[in-house]
Amino acid sequence: MKKWVAVFLALVIVGVIFSGTLAEIKERGKLIVGTEPTFPPFEYVNENNEIVGFDIDIAQKIADELGVELEILNLPFDSLIPALISDKIDLIVAGMTITEERAKVIDFSIPYFNANQAIVVRDGEPFMPQTLGDLKGKKVAVQLGTTGDLVVSDISGVTITRFQKFTDAFLELQNKRVDAVVLDEAVANAYVKTFPKFIVAAVIDTGEKYGIGVKKGNEELLEFVNTVISNMFKSPYDLLVEKWFEETK
Ligand code: ARG
Repeated sequence: MKKWVAVFLALVIVGVIFSGTLAEIKERGKLIVGTEPTFPPFEYVNENNEIVGFDIDIAQKIADELGVELEILNLPFDSLIPALISDKIDLIVAGMTITEERAKVIDFSIPYFNANQAIVVRDGEPFMPQTLGDLKGKKVAVQLGTTGDLVVSDISGVTITRFQKFTDAFLELQNKRVDAVVLDEAVANAYVKTFPKFIVAAVIDTGEKYGIGVKKGNEELLEFVNTVISNMFKSPYDLLVEKWFEETK
């Protein structure tokens, strides 16, 4: 009996040590990435019901470089960090802004995209906010736990409705139950492009940078992800310079 307890404990310990590490991912044969796919063009569900986008291509590149399959887990945005901490996913690739608060509990890769917030309203109506202050006394929809949520929560006198999905936030705007949606600029532009009844009223310079989330202490995976990203930044010219002038091996 005692022997089995010891074996079990040993397996648990090994499991804890190896979970999410490069060795474990390779052994498992797949990289599990968590995202929230109502965030076009970074991640969204296409007409074939597949999750696609800029972030998904980056995640695919990381999986390819590891030589494993890519599995995408669709989770609410505010569940991504808990899922990473509890080893349900190996990485967060979700247009996630690197913030001080988040960096206390998870690690971030080098930045891979710059972002600002935008205010979206119904086109052709008198309400055209130019600043965050113009949202005072108004009803505003955001995605729960995002930087947009934080920015709007900082203004007093705003009625905030927090949604899990941006698609629901825009439905609320369309149905005139809110006056505006606040979200990342590139994503605001993507929604306005598909739904011309909306318009970007203003861009708020928040100077955000997206990073890929890695579990704290998982240095090996973090290094790997950083290498893949920095290689993606290199132009064919950079690669030639590296090949002919910097290659030392
Ligand atoms: N950049 C914002 C943040 O980090 C919004 C990200 C939302 N991403 C998503 N896949 N829904 O809070």
